[in-house]
Amino acid sequence: MAAKLESSGRNANRWSLSGMNALVTGGTRGIGHAVVEELAGLGAVVHTCSRTETELNKCLLEWEAKGLRVSGSVCDVSFRHQREKVIEVVSALFNGKINILVNNAGISFRKPTVEYTAEEFSTIMSTNFESAYHLSQLAHPLLKTSGAGSIVFISSVAGVVSLGTGSPYAASKAAINQITKNLACEWAKDNIRTNAVAPWYTRTTLVDHLLADKSFLDEIISRTPLRRPGEAEEVSSLVAFLCLPAASYITGQVICVDGGMSVNVLSIKRVLALNAVFCWHLGRGGNWNEKRSRRRVLLRGERVEVIATQMAAAAVIACGGQAIISWTAPCRVN
Ligand SMILES: NC(=O)c1ccc[n+]([C@@H]2O[C@H](COP(=O)([O-])OP(=O)(O)OC[C@H]3O[C@@H](n4cnc5c(N)ncnc54)[C@H](OP(=O)(O)O)[C@@H]3O)[C@@H](O)[C@H]2O)c1
Repeated sequence: MAAKLESSGRNANRWSLSGMNALVTGGTRGIGHAVVEELAGLGAVVHTCSRTETELNKCLLEWEAKGLRVSGSVCDVSFRHQREKVIEVVSALFNGKINILVNNAGISFRKPTVEYTAEEFSTIMSTNFESAYHLSQLAHPLLKTSGAGSIVFISSVAGVVSLGTGSPYAASKAAINQITKNLACEWAKDNIRTNAVAPWYTRTTLVDHLLADKSFLDEIISRTPLRRPGEAEEVSSLVAFLCLPAASYITGQVICVDGGMSVNVLSIKRVLALNAVFCWHLGRGGNWNEKRSRRRVLLRGERVEVIATQMAAAAVIACGGQAIISWTAPCRVN
């Protein structure tokens, strides 16, 4: 197979975006910035947009200095007429066809559901979901004309499981995950593939303030098998792969880039350890009202680190009763 691909000359092209062009929304910071550099580094000509002209101009100069072929427009993707304008610009720039659309621009602010105003709800939905939907509609003829189009949505694991990121944000990302599947089926006949990349906490300006809080960061780390947040370049590499000819049979997929977080269920070992920490906590005069207790536990010879919360401990006791307490008897908490 490999020899056959080599001899047909396809092998070299499978890992290159040379001759292709792309629109990436929100390319001046974070994941979008890394995506612009990744696509341009693989040979694509890229157009990007953001709301802040000074930052955009600074990025364009830096990319030029690096020899990357990137242009840009000021555009707020939450407004319909500005989305229409940016597609007009791209169509003129790339002679009526584009190969790649990366719907990346997104915002998030978290609060309890009952506190969101109608305006806040609408801003999150129009920036994160409606913009991606409408830009895909507008780009459809350009992608089709290219002969081999690829759309990548930047979703989030918050659209797959409940994470406390704020319900409108989670709903906007879950909607993205669904249109990824619908468009994959509807537009396959036009040779347009659609996929979504769903990151977990990734170090960017969107979440830097959250990760600066040590207890928040510790909680993220404790839920992540790879024991750290992600980097923007670890997301952009998958985005680029999905745009390559090498990914030509992949469509309709939502792929998590999350250090294993979404497959990491609360293991029985962790439940038992939580119980042990809680018993230790009560034994030392702790009480139900204390919010959390972080401890290392030696559980049947293996060291486990846990953050015991009231709620988790209550659940352990409610579910496990005496059997769990006796099983965890050999635990040592230190
Ligand atoms: N970082 C994470 O942990 C994480 C996790 C899961 C998913 N995500 C998703 O990844 C995507 C990128 O997030 P990020 O962390 O890279 O965010 P970021 O660091 O805040 O960067 C966002 C980029 O999008 C632009 N942007 C924001 N709103 C825009 C609008 N209305 N119109 C045009 N451009 C806009 C920003 O520039 P201006 O502000 O100048 O417009 C900036 O270039 C988002 O969809 C986010 O939901 C991020």
